Amino acid sequence: MDIWHIRGGRRLCGTASVQGAKNAVLPILAASVLTGCETRLSNCPDLMDVDGSVDILRCLGCRVERSEGGMYINSSGPLRSTIPHDLMSGMRSSVIFLGAVLARCGEAVMAMPGGCELGPRPIDLHLSALRDMGAHITVSAGNIVCSGALHGASINLALPSVGATENIMIAACRASGGTVITNAAREPEICDLADYLRKMGADITGDGSSTICIGSFSPKSSVEHSVMPDRIAAATWLCACASAGGEVAVDGAVPAHLVPVTQALREMGCTVDEYPGGIKICAPDRLRAPRPVATRPYPGFPTDAQALLMAATLKAEGTSVFTENMFESRFRHVPELRRMGAEISTEGRVAIVRGVPSLHGAPVTATDLRGSAALLIAALGAEGETVLHDNCHLRRGYEDPVKVLTALGAEIR
Ligand code: EPZ
Repeated sequence: MDIWHIRGGRRLCGTASVQGAKNAVLPILAASVLTGCETRLSNCPDLMDVDGSVDILRCLGCRVERSEGGMYINSSGPLRSTIPHDLMSGMRSSVIFLGAVLARCGEAVMAMPGGCELGPRPIDLHLSALRDMGAHITVSAGNIVCSGALHGASINLALPSVGATENIMIAACRASGGTVITNAAREPEICDLADYLRKMGADITGDGSSTICIGSFSPKSSVEHSVMPDRIAAATWLCACASAGGEVAVDGAVPAHLVPVTQALREMGCTVDEYPGGIKICAPDRLRAPRPVATRPYPGFPTDAQALLMAATLKAEGTSVFTENMFESRFRHVPELRRMGAEISTEGRVAIVRGVPSLHGAPVTATDLRGSAALLIAALGAEGETVLHDNCHLRRGYEDPVKVLTALGAEIR
Protein backbone atom coordinates (compact mmCIF):
# COMPACT_ATOMS: atom_id res chain seq x y z
CA MET A 1 0.00 0.00 0.00
CA ASP A 2 1.46 3.37 -1.01
CA ILE A 3 0.52 6.36 1.15
CA TRP A 4 0.97 9.70 -0.58
CA HIS A 5 0.83 12.96 1.40
CA ILE A 6 -0.15 15.88 -0.84
CA ARG A 7 -0.21 19.47 0.41
CA GLY A 8 -2.42 21.43 -1.96
CA GLY A 9 -2.71 25.09 -2.78
CA ARG A 10 0.58 25.42 -4.62
CA ARG A 11 0.58 26.52 -8.29
CA LEU A 12 2.45 24.27 -10.72
CA CYS A 13 5.13 25.68 -12.96
CA GLY A 14 7.67 24.09 -15.30
CA THR A 15 7.95 21.18 -17.73
CA ALA A 16 6.65 17.62 -17.48
CA SER A 17 8.00 14.94 -19.84
CA VAL A 18 5.50 12.34 -21.03
CA GLN A 19 6.32 8.65 -20.54
CA GLY A 20 5.93 5.97 -23.20
CA ALA A 21 2.30 4.85 -23.60
CA LYS A 22 1.15 2.01 -21.33
CA ASN A 23 -1.69 1.11 -23.70
CA ALA A 24 0.67 0.96 -26.67
CA VAL A 25 3.54 -1.00 -25.12
CA LEU A 26 1.31 -3.74 -23.64
CA PRO A 27 -0.04 -5.03 -26.99
CA ILE A 28 3.42 -4.57 -28.56
CA LEU A 29 5.00 -6.76 -25.87
CA ALA A 30 2.36 -9.42 -26.57
CA ALA A 31 2.94 -9.19 -30.33
CA SER A 32 6.70 -9.69 -29.85
CA VAL A 33 6.11 -13.47 -29.52
CA LEU A 34 4.47 -13.72 -32.96
CA THR A 35 7.74 -14.75 -34.60
CA GLY A 36 11.12 -15.81 -33.28
CA CYS A 37 12.50 -12.32 -33.80
CA GLU A 38 14.53 -9.96 -31.69
CA THR A 39 12.77 -6.76 -30.58
CA ARG A 40 14.47 -3.65 -29.27
CA LEU A 41 12.04 -1.13 -27.73
CA SER A 42 12.89 2.41 -26.67
CA ASN A 43 10.76 4.90 -24.70
CA CYS A 44 9.39 1.88 -22.86
CA PRO A 45 7.65 3.04 -19.65
CA ASP A 46 8.69 1.51 -16.32
CA LEU A 47 5.27 0.42 -14.98
CA MET A 48 3.84 -2.43 -12.93
CA ASP A 49 1.74 -3.47 -15.92
CA VAL A 50 4.92 -3.70 -18.03
CA ASP A 51 6.51 -5.79 -15.27
CA GLY A 52 3.50 -8.11 -15.51
CA SER A 53 3.92 -8.49 -19.27
CA VAL A 54 7.65 -9.17 -18.90
CA ASP A 55 6.88 -11.92 -16.37
CA ILE A 56 4.53 -13.48 -18.92
CA LEU A 57 7.11 -13.21 -21.73
CA ARG A 58 9.74 -14.89 -19.59
CA CYS A 59 7.27 -17.58 -18.49
CA LEU A 60 6.53 -18.32 -22.16
CA GLY A 61 10.25 -18.79 -22.78
CA CYS A 62 11.37 -15.41 -24.15
CA ARG A 63 14.62 -13.78 -23.09
CA VAL A 64 13.96 -10.23 -21.88
CA GLU A 65 16.56 -7.66 -20.85
CA ARG A 66 15.57 -4.24 -19.55
CA SER A 67 17.54 -1.04 -19.39
CA GLU A 68 16.65 2.60 -18.69
CA GLY A 69 13.65 3.18 -20.94
CA GLY A 70 14.70 0.29 -23.16
CA MET A 71 13.74 -3.34 -23.55
CA TYR A 72 15.23 -6.25 -25.52
CA ILE A 73 13.06 -9.30 -26.23
CA ASN A 74 14.26 -12.45 -27.94
CA SER A 75 11.40 -14.83 -28.66
CA SER A 76 13.38 -17.20 -30.90
CA GLY A 77 13.32 -20.26 -28.64
CA PRO A 78 10.52 -22.82 -28.51
CA LEU A 79 7.72 -21.16 -26.56
CA ARG A 80 5.32 -22.49 -23.99
CA SER A 81 1.68 -21.82 -24.77
CA THR A 82 0.23 -21.64 -21.28
CA ILE A 83 0.06 -18.54 -19.12
CA PRO A 84 -0.31 -19.50 -15.46
CA HIS A 85 -3.23 -18.13 -13.48
CA ASP A 86 -1.18 -16.01 -11.11
CA LEU A 87 0.39 -14.07 -13.98
CA MET A 88 -3.02 -13.54 -15.64
CA SER A 89 -4.78 -12.43 -12.49
CA GLY A 90 -2.12 -9.79 -11.93
CA MET A 91 -3.19 -7.92 -15.03
CA ARG A 92 -6.48 -8.47 -16.81
CA SER A 93 -5.28 -6.84 -20.01
CA SER A 94 -2.95 -9.81 -20.55
CA VAL A 95 -5.76 -11.34 -22.60
CA ILE A 96 -3.91 -9.48 -25.37
CA PHE A 97 -1.43 -12.39 -25.36
CA LEU A 98 -4.15 -14.77 -26.60
CA GLY A 99 -3.93 -13.96 -30.29
CA ALA A 100 -0.14 -13.84 -30.32
CA VAL A 101 0.44 -17.16 -28.49
CA LEU A 102 -2.27 -18.94 -30.50
CA ALA A 103 -0.85 -17.66 -33.79
CA ARG A 104 2.72 -18.62 -32.84
CA CYS A 105 2.14 -21.95 -31.07
CA GLY A 106 -1.11 -23.19 -32.60
CA GLU A 107 -2.57 -23.34 -29.10
CA ALA A 108 -2.98 -21.09 -26.05
CA VAL A 109 -4.20 -21.74 -22.53
CA MET A 110 -4.81 -18.97 -20.02
CA ALA A 111 -7.15 -18.06 -17.20
CA MET A 112 -10.23 -16.04 -18.02
CA PRO A 113 -9.30 -12.46 -17.15
CA GLY A 114 -11.30 -11.30 -14.17
CA GLY A 115 -13.37 -8.16 -14.04
CA CYS A 116 -11.75 -5.13 -12.54
CA GLU A 117 -12.70 -1.96 -10.72
CA LEU A 118 -14.34 -0.62 -13.89
CA GLY A 119 -16.87 -3.42 -13.96
CA PRO A 120 -17.13 -6.70 -15.84
CA ARG A 121 -14.58 -6.75 -18.64
CA PRO A 122 -16.05 -9.27 -21.13
CA ILE A 123 -13.88 -10.69 -23.89
CA ASP A 124 -16.69 -12.14 -26.04
CA LEU A 125 -15.62 -10.03 -29.03
CA HIS A 126 -12.05 -11.35 -28.77
CA LEU A 127 -13.20 -15.00 -28.63
CA SER A 128 -15.85 -14.77 -31.36
CA ALA A 129 -13.34 -13.12 -33.72
CA LEU A 130 -10.69 -15.79 -33.11
CA ARG A 131 -13.36 -18.46 -33.67
CA ASP A 132 -14.21 -16.76 -36.98
CA MET A 133 -10.51 -17.20 -37.84
CA GLY A 134 -10.68 -20.93 -37.19
CA ALA A 135 -9.71 -21.21 -33.53
CA HIS A 136 -11.34 -23.90 -31.43
CA ILE A 137 -11.96 -22.23 -28.08
CA THR A 138 -13.44 -23.75 -24.95
CA VAL A 139 -13.92 -21.93 -21.68
CA SER A 140 -14.09 -24.25 -18.72
CA ALA A 141 -13.30 -23.98 -15.03
CA GLY A 142 -12.19 -20.41 -15.53
CA ASN A 143 -9.68 -21.30 -18.23
CA ILE A 144 -9.63 -20.40 -21.92
CA VAL A 145 -8.29 -23.27 -24.04
CA CYS A 146 -7.60 -22.37 -27.69
CA SER A 147 -6.17 -24.39 -30.53
CA GLY A 148 -6.16 -24.54 -34.32
CA ALA A 149 -4.53 -23.08 -37.39
CA LEU A 150 -5.82 -19.59 -38.14
CA HIS A 151 -7.18 -18.42 -41.48
CA GLY A 152 -8.11 -14.90 -42.53
CA ALA A 153 -11.68 -13.65 -42.08
CA SER A 154 -13.90 -10.61 -42.46
CA ILE A 155 -14.72 -9.53 -38.92
CA ASN A 156 -17.22 -6.84 -38.00
CA LEU A 157 -16.88 -5.79 -34.36
CA ALA A 158 -20.16 -5.09 -32.57
CA LEU A 159 -18.21 -2.52 -30.50
CA PRO A 160 -14.97 -0.78 -31.52
CA SER A 161 -13.13 -2.67 -28.78
CA VAL A 162 -9.47 -1.65 -28.44
CA GLY A 163 -8.32 -5.00 -27.08
CA ALA A 164 -10.33 -7.07 -29.52
CA THR A 165 -9.03 -5.01 -32.47
CA GLU A 166 -5.47 -5.57 -31.21
CA ASN A 167 -5.90 -9.31 -30.63
CA ILE A 168 -7.31 -9.78 -34.13
CA MET A 169 -4.58 -7.66 -35.78
CA ILE A 170 -1.87 -9.65 -34.06
CA ALA A 171 -3.40 -13.09 -34.78
CA ALA A 172 -4.23 -12.15 -38.39
CA CYS A 173 -0.54 -11.50 -39.16
CA ARG A 174 0.10 -15.26 -39.13
CA ALA A 175 -3.28 -16.41 -40.44
CA SER A 176 -3.43 -17.94 -43.92
CA GLY A 177 -5.16 -15.41 -46.15
CA GLY A 178 -6.15 -11.80 -45.54
CA THR A 179 -8.28 -10.38 -42.72
CA VAL A 180 -10.51 -7.30 -42.76
CA ILE A 181 -11.71 -5.77 -39.51
CA THR A 182 -14.68 -3.39 -39.76
CA ASN A 183 -15.86 -1.15 -36.92
CA ALA A 184 -12.29 -1.42 -35.64
CA ALA A 185 -11.07 0.77 -32.78
CA ARG A 186 -9.23 3.89 -34.01
CA GLU A 187 -7.11 4.75 -30.94
CA PRO A 188 -3.54 6.01 -31.59
CA GLU A 189 -2.27 2.96 -29.69
CA ILE A 190 -3.74 0.79 -32.46
CA CYS A 191 -1.60 2.71 -34.98
CA ASP A 192 1.51 2.27 -32.84
CA LEU A 193 0.89 -1.49 -32.67
CA ALA A 194 0.35 -1.53 -36.47
CA ASP A 195 3.66 0.33 -36.94
CA TYR A 196 5.41 -2.31 -34.84
CA LEU A 197 3.74 -5.18 -36.73
CA ARG A 198 4.72 -3.61 -40.08
CA LYS A 199 8.34 -3.49 -38.85
CA MET A 200 7.97 -7.20 -38.02
CA GLY A 201 7.02 -7.77 -41.67
CA ALA A 202 3.22 -7.53 -41.64
CA ASP A 203 1.20 -5.93 -44.42
CA ILE A 204 -1.33 -3.78 -42.51
CA THR A 205 -3.34 -0.85 -43.87
CA GLY A 206 -6.21 1.23 -42.53
CA ASP A 207 -5.08 1.41 -38.89
CA GLY A 208 -6.55 4.56 -37.35
CA SER A 209 -9.68 4.14 -39.45
CA SER A 210 -12.66 1.87 -38.79
CA THR A 211 -11.51 -0.64 -41.43
CA ILE A 212 -8.16 -2.40 -41.00
CA CYS A 213 -6.76 -4.85 -43.55
CA ILE A 214 -4.09 -7.38 -42.64
CA GLY A 215 -2.45 -9.18 -45.59
CA SER A 216 0.69 -11.23 -46.11
CA PHE A 217 3.51 -11.59 -43.57
CA SER A 218 7.23 -11.79 -44.29
CA PRO A 219 8.88 -11.96 -40.86
CA LYS A 220 11.99 -9.88 -40.19
CA SER A 221 14.64 -11.23 -37.84
CA SER A 222 14.98 -8.08 -35.76
CA VAL A 223 12.76 -5.10 -35.06
CA GLU A 224 13.41 -1.70 -33.47
CA HIS A 225 10.54 0.47 -32.25
CA SER A 226 10.10 3.55 -30.10
CA VAL A 227 6.85 3.50 -28.09
CA MET A 228 4.50 6.44 -28.70
CA PRO A 229 3.95 8.98 -25.92
CA ASP A 230 1.22 8.27 -23.35
CA ARG A 231 -1.69 10.60 -24.17
CA ILE A 232 -3.49 9.83 -20.90
CA ALA A 233 -0.39 10.63 -18.85
CA ALA A 234 -0.20 13.91 -20.83
CA ALA A 235 -3.87 14.59 -20.02
CA THR A 236 -3.09 13.92 -16.37
CA TRP A 237 -0.44 16.64 -16.19
CA LEU A 238 -2.63 19.11 -18.11
CA CYS A 239 -5.54 18.53 -15.71
CA ALA A 240 -3.21 18.77 -12.71
CA CYS A 241 -2.18 22.25 -13.84
CA ALA A 242 -5.79 23.28 -14.42
CA SER A 243 -6.67 22.09 -10.91
CA ALA A 244 -3.71 23.60 -9.05
CA GLY A 245 -3.25 26.68 -11.21
CA GLY A 246 -0.01 27.73 -12.86
CA GLU A 247 1.69 27.19 -16.18
CA VAL A 248 3.04 23.85 -17.39
CA ALA A 249 4.65 22.61 -20.62
CA VAL A 250 3.91 18.94 -21.29
CA ASP A 251 6.84 17.74 -23.38
CA GLY A 252 6.10 14.86 -25.73
CA ALA A 253 2.33 15.38 -25.73
CA VAL A 254 0.83 14.96 -29.21
CA PRO A 255 -1.92 17.60 -29.67
CA ALA A 256 -3.78 15.50 -32.27
CA HIS A 257 -4.20 12.72 -29.67
CA LEU A 258 -5.87 14.98 -27.12
CA VAL A 259 -8.28 17.26 -29.03
CA PRO A 260 -11.42 16.65 -26.87
CA VAL A 261 -9.40 17.11 -23.67
CA THR A 262 -7.63 20.33 -24.71
CA GLN A 263 -10.94 21.63 -26.09
CA ALA A 264 -12.62 21.09 -22.70
CA LEU A 265 -9.70 22.75 -20.90
CA ARG A 266 -10.00 25.78 -23.21
CA GLU A 267 -13.76 25.93 -22.49
CA MET A 268 -12.78 26.03 -18.81
CA GLY A 269 -10.74 29.17 -19.43
CA CYS A 270 -7.28 27.65 -19.73
CA THR A 271 -4.90 28.86 -22.41
CA VAL A 272 -3.71 25.74 -24.22
CA ASP A 273 -1.03 26.23 -26.87
CA GLU A 274 0.73 23.68 -29.05
CA TYR A 275 4.47 23.98 -29.56
CA PRO A 276 6.79 21.72 -31.55
CA GLY A 277 6.95 18.59 -29.39
CA GLY A 278 4.34 19.40 -26.79
CA ILE A 279 1.41 21.26 -25.30
CA LYS A 280 1.62 24.25 -22.94
CA ILE A 281 -1.22 25.09 -20.55
CA CYS A 282 -1.81 28.21 -18.47
CA ALA A 283 -4.65 28.07 -15.94
CA PRO A 284 -6.86 31.07 -15.07
CA ASP A 285 -7.46 32.11 -11.47
CA ARG A 286 -10.98 30.71 -11.58
CA LEU A 287 -12.03 27.93 -13.92
CA ARG A 288 -15.50 27.72 -15.41
CA ALA A 289 -17.46 24.58 -16.22
CA PRO A 290 -16.84 23.03 -19.68
CA ARG A 291 -19.62 21.99 -22.02
CA PRO A 292 -21.08 18.55 -21.17
CA VAL A 293 -18.50 15.75 -21.55
CA ALA A 294 -19.50 12.33 -22.91
CA THR A 295 -16.89 9.59 -23.25
CA ARG A 296 -16.73 7.89 -26.63
CA PRO A 297 -14.39 5.62 -28.59
CA TYR A 298 -11.51 7.53 -30.21
CA PRO A 299 -11.57 10.23 -31.56
CA GLY A 300 -14.24 11.05 -28.97
CA PHE A 301 -13.50 12.10 -25.39
CA PRO A 302 -11.34 9.33 -23.89
CA THR A 303 -12.91 7.40 -21.01
CA ASP A 304 -9.48 7.24 -19.35
CA ALA A 305 -9.49 11.05 -19.02
CA GLN A 306 -13.02 11.32 -17.57
CA ALA A 307 -11.93 11.12 -13.94
CA LEU A 308 -8.95 13.38 -14.63
CA LEU A 309 -11.02 16.22 -16.09
CA MET A 310 -13.74 15.77 -13.46
CA ALA A 311 -11.13 16.39 -10.76
CA ALA A 312 -10.18 19.64 -12.48
CA THR A 313 -13.82 20.86 -12.62
CA LEU A 314 -14.55 20.53 -8.88
CA LYS A 315 -13.95 24.26 -8.18
CA ALA A 316 -14.99 25.47 -11.64
CA GLU A 317 -17.75 28.08 -11.72
CA GLY A 318 -21.04 26.51 -12.79
CA THR A 319 -22.14 22.93 -13.31
CA SER A 320 -20.15 20.27 -15.19
CA VAL A 321 -21.86 17.19 -16.65
CA PHE A 322 -20.06 13.92 -17.38
CA THR A 323 -21.58 10.92 -19.16
CA GLU A 324 -19.52 7.71 -19.01
CA ASN A 325 -20.52 5.61 -22.00
CA MET A 326 -17.64 3.13 -22.07
CA PHE A 327 -17.63 1.35 -18.72
CA GLU A 328 -20.35 0.44 -16.23
CA SER A 329 -18.75 1.65 -13.05
CA ARG A 330 -16.23 4.31 -13.75
CA PHE A 331 -17.41 6.83 -11.12
CA ARG A 332 -15.84 5.08 -8.13
CA HIS A 333 -13.61 8.11 -7.55
CA VAL A 334 -16.73 10.23 -6.86
CA PRO A 335 -17.32 9.28 -3.19
CA GLU A 336 -13.63 9.91 -2.49
CA LEU A 337 -13.76 13.33 -4.17
CA ARG A 338 -16.84 14.17 -2.07
CA ARG A 339 -14.71 13.61 1.06
CA MET A 340 -12.63 16.59 -0.10
CA GLY A 341 -15.74 18.80 -0.28
CA ALA A 342 -16.68 18.20 -3.90
CA GLU A 343 -20.39 18.43 -4.76
CA ILE A 344 -21.05 15.62 -7.23
CA SER A 345 -24.25 13.68 -7.80
CA THR A 346 -24.41 10.58 -9.99
CA GLU A 347 -27.35 8.92 -11.67
CA GLY A 348 -26.42 5.84 -13.72
CA ARG A 349 -23.93 6.90 -16.36
CA VAL A 350 -24.22 10.63 -15.58
CA ALA A 351 -22.28 12.62 -12.99
CA ILE A 352 -23.18 16.26 -12.20
CA VAL A 353 -20.45 18.41 -10.63
CA ARG A 354 -21.45 21.67 -8.98
CA GLY A 355 -18.40 23.92 -8.62
CA VAL A 356 -17.47 24.82 -5.03
CA PRO A 357 -15.30 27.76 -3.97
CA SER A 358 -12.72 25.51 -2.36
CA LEU A 359 -11.79 21.92 -1.53
CA HIS A 360 -10.13 20.69 1.66
CA GLY A 361 -7.61 17.91 2.09
CA ALA A 362 -8.87 14.58 3.47
CA PRO A 363 -7.83 10.95 3.81
CA VAL A 364 -8.93 9.26 0.57
CA THR A 365 -8.54 5.82 -0.97
CA ALA A 366 -7.68 5.08 -4.59
CA THR A 367 -10.20 2.91 -6.41
CA ASP A 368 -8.61 2.32 -9.79
CA LEU A 369 -5.74 3.63 -11.91
CA ARG A 370 -7.31 6.81 -13.34
CA GLY A 371 -9.47 7.33 -10.25
CA SER A 372 -6.29 7.44 -8.21
CA ALA A 373 -4.80 10.05 -10.55
CA ALA A 374 -8.02 12.06 -10.20
CA LEU A 375 -7.62 12.13 -6.41
CA LEU A 376 -4.06 13.37 -6.87
CA ILE A 377 -5.28 16.12 -9.23
CA ALA A 378 -8.02 17.21 -6.80
CA ALA A 379 -5.59 17.16 -3.84
CA LEU A 380 -3.27 19.56 -5.68
CA GLY A 381 -6.14 22.06 -5.86
CA ALA A 382 -7.34 21.52 -2.27
CA GLU A 383 -6.41 23.48 0.87
CA GLY A 384 -4.40 21.52 3.40
CA GLU A 385 -3.10 17.98 3.29
CA THR A 386 -4.65 15.01 1.53
CA VAL A 387 -3.49 11.52 2.44
CA LEU A 388 -4.01 9.19 -0.53
CA HIS A 389 -4.05 5.47 0.26
CA ASP A 390 -3.20 3.75 -3.00
CA ASN A 391 -2.89 0.01 -3.34
CA CYS A 392 -0.45 0.26 -6.24
CA HIS A 393 -3.03 1.60 -8.69
CA LEU A 394 -0.93 4.61 -9.69
CA ARG A 395 2.19 2.50 -10.21
CA ARG A 396 0.32 0.38 -12.76
CA GLY A 397 0.06 3.32 -15.17
CA TYR A 398 2.43 6.10 -14.13
CA GLU A 399 6.22 5.84 -13.98
CA ASP A 400 6.87 8.29 -11.17
CA PRO A 401 4.03 10.78 -10.56
CA VAL A 402 5.69 12.18 -7.43
CA LYS A 403 8.86 13.04 -9.38
CA VAL A 404 6.91 14.67 -12.21
CA LEU A 405 4.66 16.74 -9.93
CA THR A 406 7.36 17.64 -7.40
CA ALA A 407 9.47 18.99 -10.26
CA LEU A 408 6.52 21.27 -11.06
CA GLY A 409 6.45 22.59 -7.49
CA ALA A 410 3.90 20.27 -5.91
CA GLU A 411 4.48 19.20 -2.29
CA ILE A 412 4.06 15.41 -2.31
CA ARG A 413 5.79 12.66 -0.32
C1 EPZ B 1 -8.44 -0.47 -23.42
O1 EPZ B 1 -9.13 -1.42 -22.63
C2 EPZ B 1 -7.53 0.27 -22.46
N1 EPZ B 1 -6.59 -0.67 -21.85
C3 EPZ B 1 -8.36 0.96 -21.36
O2 EPZ B 1 -7.47 1.71 -20.56
C4 EPZ B 1 -9.34 1.91 -22.03
O3 EPZ B 1 -10.16 2.49 -21.04
C5 EPZ B 1 -10.21 1.14 -23.04
O4 EPZ B 1 -9.36 0.47 -24.01
C6 EPZ B 1 -11.15 2.05 -23.80
O5 EPZ B 1 -10.43 3.02 -24.48
C7 EPZ B 1 -5.51 -1.06 -22.56
O6 EPZ B 1 -5.31 -0.68 -23.70
C8 EPZ B 1 -4.56 -2.00 -21.86
P1 EPZ B 1 -12.36 -2.06 -24.86
P2 EPZ B 1 -10.02 -2.59 -23.36
O7 EPZ B 1 -12.25 -3.48 -25.27
O8 EPZ B 1 -9.35 -3.00 -24.62
C9 EPZ B 1 -16.68 -3.72 -23.96
C10 EPZ B 1 -6.46 2.45 -18.57
O9 EPZ B 1 -6.90 3.13 -17.64
N2 EPZ B 1 -16.20 -5.01 -24.49
O10 EPZ B 1 -12.21 -0.98 -25.90
O11 EPZ B 1 -10.36 -3.61 -22.37
C11 EPZ B 1 -16.04 -3.39 -22.63
O12 EPZ B 1 -16.76 -4.00 -21.56
C12 EPZ B 1 -7.32 1.34 -19.17
O13 EPZ B 1 -5.36 2.62 -19.12
C13 EPZ B 1 -17.10 -6.06 -24.68
O14 EPZ B 1 -18.29 -5.92 -24.40
O15 EPZ B 1 -11.32 -1.75 -23.70
C14 EPZ B 1 -16.14 -1.89 -22.57
O16 EPZ B 1 -17.43 -1.53 -22.09
C15 EPZ B 1 -8.64 1.21 -18.44
N3 EPZ B 1 -16.64 -7.24 -25.17
C16 EPZ B 1 -16.03 -1.46 -24.05
O17 EPZ B 1 -16.27 -2.66 -24.82
C17 EPZ B 1 -15.32 -7.44 -25.50
O18 EPZ B 1 -14.97 -8.56 -25.97
C18 EPZ B 1 -14.68 -0.91 -24.42
O19 EPZ B 1 -13.73 -1.90 -24.06
C19 EPZ B 1 -14.42 -6.37 -25.30
C20 EPZ B 1 -14.88 -5.17 -24.80
